[in-house]
Parts: sequence; structure tokens; C-alpha cells
Amino acid sequence: MTEKDTELRISKIRDGTVIDHVPAGDALHVLAILGIDGSGGEGVSLGMNVPSETMGKKDIVKVEGREMSQAELDVLSLIAPDATVNIVRDYAVAEKTEIEPPEKVTGLLTCPNRHCITNAGEPVETRFDVLDDGVRCAYCETIVREEITDHLAV
Ligand code: CTP
Ligand code: ZN
Repeated sequence: MTEKDTELRISKIRDGTVIDHVPAGDALHVLAILGIDGSGGEGVSLGMNVPSETMGKKDIVKVEGREMSQAELDVLSLIAPDATVNIVRDYAVAEKTEIEPPEKVTGLLTCPNRHCITNAGEPVETRFDVLDDGVRCAYCETIVREEITDHLAV
């Protein structure tokens, strides 16, 4: 079965954003990072563990009626560095971009260090600097390399 055949499982969208080539199993994390839980009323379709020629298996996320900002999308690079973002307008792919890591991630992740000021019940927003191979808490310098999605605040 080819990638094109499998795509037929999920309808094309008219307007919105298609996030393709997401690591298999991470589609729900993508939605979490984008703060999409369906309450906004937008149409959302997911393909999980879809066969892919290049990745073996992949996830794909389609959000209708909404174009994600570059800043929102850059955060995705933490979990899906090889994802492709397609902005769809009137059924055609109008823009296709690779995502890039941001320098900092604010408010999105929680620090695993129990003694960190961000876990002390103070009104301090978390802030992590993005490294080549992980993220580092700007307050206590704890580094998170693996399973970053376990530390999502959303
Ligand atoms: N897509 C969609 N609705 C549209 C147009 C495209 O859902 N109206 C989806 C396609 O199903 C595909 C992605 O957007 O998953 C990118 O579309 P396209 O660039 O046409 O596909 P490919 O050439 O296979 O993309 P790539 O080279 O990035 O793999
Ligand atoms: Zn910390």
C-alpha cells in the first residue's frame, strides 16, 4: 500500500493546516501543544500509525479553518522535528514549511525539579532554553532530553 492510498482514509480539507510526517504516536501531543481540544469548534482529523514510505509509520493532523502561526508551529519541533506543515487554502496546498526550533519555550513545559521556583506555587511562568538535544530550565538549569511530552503543562 502506498502513502497516497493511505491518505484516502482521511479526507482532504478545504482550508486549514495539515501537519504531516509526525512521529507515530505523537498526534495527540501535537494537539496538546497547539492547545486544540475540540472546544474551539474547529474540525480536527487525525491519522495515527498511518503507513508511510519514508517513516514506516507516521501520524498526521488536520485542523480545519485555522492557520497555525509560525510561533505555535515552532514549538512542535520539540517533538516532531521532521514534520511538514501545509497551509491549505481552497483545497490546494498554499504553503509548505519545515518547522524550526524556537530559542525559548515559555509556559508550555513544567520543570521536573521539585525544588525549582516554578514548582513552588509562585506566579512564575516556566521558561526553557532550547538546546540541540533537549531543553534547559532557565531558573534551575535542569535539562530535559527524553520524553519532553511528559513535561507538557497543557
Ligand atoms: N492535504 C489535505 N487537504 C488538501 C490538500 C492537501 O489534507 N486540500 C494534505 C495531503 O493529504 C497531504 C498533505 O496535505 O497529507 C500535503 O499535501 P501534498 O503536498 O499534496 O502531498 P505530498 O506531495 O505527498 O506532500 P509531501 O511531499 O510533504 O509528503
Ligand atoms: Zn526548573
